[in-house]
Formats: sequence, structure tokens, C-alpha cells
Amino acid sequence: MTTNIQITLSEERKEKPQPEQLEFGRIFTDHMFVMDYSPQKGWHDARIEPFEPITLSPASMVFHYGQTVFEGLKAYRTSDDKVLLFRPEKNMERLNLSNERLCIPEIDGEFVIEALKKLVSIDKEWIPTTEGTSLYIRPFIIPTEYYLGVAPSKFYKLMIILSPVGSYYKEGIHPVKIFVENQYVRAVDGGTGKAKTGGNYASSLKAQEEAAKKGYSQVLWLDGIEKKYVEEVGSMNIFFKINGEVVTPEINGSILEGVTRNSIIQMLKYWNIPVKEKRISMEEVYDAYKEGVLEEAFGTGTAAVISPIGEFYYKEEKMIINKGQTGDVSKKLYDTLTGIQKGTEEDVFGWVTEVK
Ligand code: COI
Repeated sequence: MTTNIQITLSEERKEKPQPEQLEFGRIFTDHMFVMDYSPQKGWHDARIEPFEPITLSPASMVFHYGQTVFEGLKAYRTSDDKVLLFRPEKNMERLNLSNERLCIPEIDGEFVIEALKKLVSIDKEWIPTTEGTSLYIRPFIIPTEYYLGVAPSKFYKLMIILSPVGSYYKEGIHPVKIFVENQYVRAVDGGTGKAKTGGNYASSLKAQEEAAKKGYSQVLWLDGIEKKYVEEVGSMNIFFKINGEVVTPEINGSILEGVTRNSIIQMLKYWNIPVKEKRISMEEVYDAYKEGVLEEAFGTGTAAVISPIGEFYYKEEKMIINKGQTGDVSKKLYDTLTGIQKGTEEDVFGWVTEVK
């Protein structure tokens, strides 16, 4: 197991983007972290290098059967120039859960957090500070063995790249419109739905593209068997506020256990706002809408943070929520969570880690 990190700094520094031009995930910083795995050496050769293309054989397994996993987390820079990370240990826990499902060797989460902190501190000047911006951190693992048989690779690369980002959705913090998907499905219990693996996202593209043509930002997935129970949105977990109670689909083996989802549940409990994780059908949500008690809906995710939902398209009907406006609970959650992440709100939960 690797313990030290070789550092090679880039001779050239790229120009940094204007914060108002930032989109999600299009610009990358000057450096990246790389570490290799072989059966003989385990994870080894940890290094920080200039960000640049990598060379792989066309026979590398990454190009063939999708044995990949990834994570997403964010770094923020405070007004007194501290750099903060939000719950990185949860991402490492989930990375190992994904590794286990995809037959990828376990990583040492503490070591990867150290590597990630080192990388972020080297590229610290890239962390944007204006409202709604942050530095998105993308750790990922790819299989690199040259082999066309279907089997777990014997060799891997773990890499971390950094991207200064603005909002994930073009709507920014304004409510998004979501299409309730009734044809395609994302995952079933026993599949890979709970892992953060590329294939889950590849299989979502067709539905997403069709929804986009109809003017919807993302799709809401229903369960893969009966197409009845709510699961998650393309890049977020989902919450509804119905008659004063916040509900979110329970962890069931096919939905992703989001770090933001987990944080939101804890925050609601702390505020004594009723919150329940349960199996919830889209019909129940629709009935609540018809009775006028579907008060708010919002998605949660690292990339999306808290994204209020202003409309669902379901059964050929537009369900307009809270007159298409951001609800009070969604707003309070967004303000408090981003405040904790940026160090302007007290971190009562002990979620924030400083990068020194
Ligand atoms: C994240 O929220 O970090 C995600 O992984 C969503 C991503 C697929 C953009």
C-alpha cells in the first residue's frame, strides 16, 4: 500500500475562468492525482502530476465493459481563505461500496482523502468564491488490463481531477422541471443501482434526451419492476413535502445513497421537521398534488446541491408545485447547507474538514 505521494508541478499555469462563465465540469485545473493498482504491488505509485491526457491501449478493459466507479465532492474557499471539504469520508465509504459491487480492489479511504487534500491545496487558487460556485472533485477508478474477456481487470488506475464549477442546472437555484419516466428504467434491486458506476449513467441517457426534447431538465425514475414507486432523479435523490411531512424513498438496493440526502435528513431531524424514509408511489404523490397537500419537491446531490422542483410531467399532466416557486423548506435547507459548506453557518454536525 502506497504511503507517500510523488509531486511533479506543472511548468505552465492555465488561465483561470471568469466565475460568471462557469458551467458544470467543462474546465479543469493544472494538476491531477494518479495511483495504480497491480496484484503484486496493490495500490502504488501515488503521484500528483500536471493535468494532461493519458495513454491507454485500445485493448484496455475500460473501453469495453464499463467496470468503472466514481465519486463527486466539493471544496469551498472561505472569506478568510480557508479551504473546506464536506464529509469526504462518506464519499470514500461509498467508493469502496461501489468497488465491492464492481469487483474493484478496495482503496484506503484515509489515504485517498490525504491525496485529495494535497491536490486541492496545490490547485487552491482555482477554487471560485462567488455565489453558487465551488471546486468539484472527481475521484474515479478505471480498469487498465489489456484483455477482451469478460472478467474483473487485474490492473487499475485511480485518478482525481478538479473542476471549478457553477450550477449543475442551467436554471441555477431556480426550480427545475422533471419528467416522470414511464418507459425506461434505471436499476433494479440486485443490479448496480446503489453503486456509483458509469453504466448507470449511460443507461439513463436515452430517457434524459427524450425528456430534454420535451423541455424537461431530468427524469424521475420509477422502480424497475412495477414502474410504480419513486426512486431518484438522474443526478439527485428526491424529497417531497406532503402535508407538513418531508418524505424520501427509502434505501432499497437500487437507489444511490447520496451524501447530501443523508445530510438533509439529519438537518430536518435537528430542526424537528418531520421526515420519513419510506417506499412512496408516484400515485401517492399525484393524489397529494390533487388534494393540494404536495407543498414542495426538491432534489439533492453534490453537483446539484438542493434543487427545487417546480413541475413534474406525469400521466400527460403538468403538476405545478408551489406555483413553480422555491418552497420555504427547500430554501432553508439550501441556505444552511451551503452556509455550512462555505463556513458561514455553524457546523453543528461536524461535517466540514479543513484542507491545510
Ligand atoms: C454528483 O452529484 O456528484 C454526481 O455524481 C452527479 C453527477 C453524475 C454529475
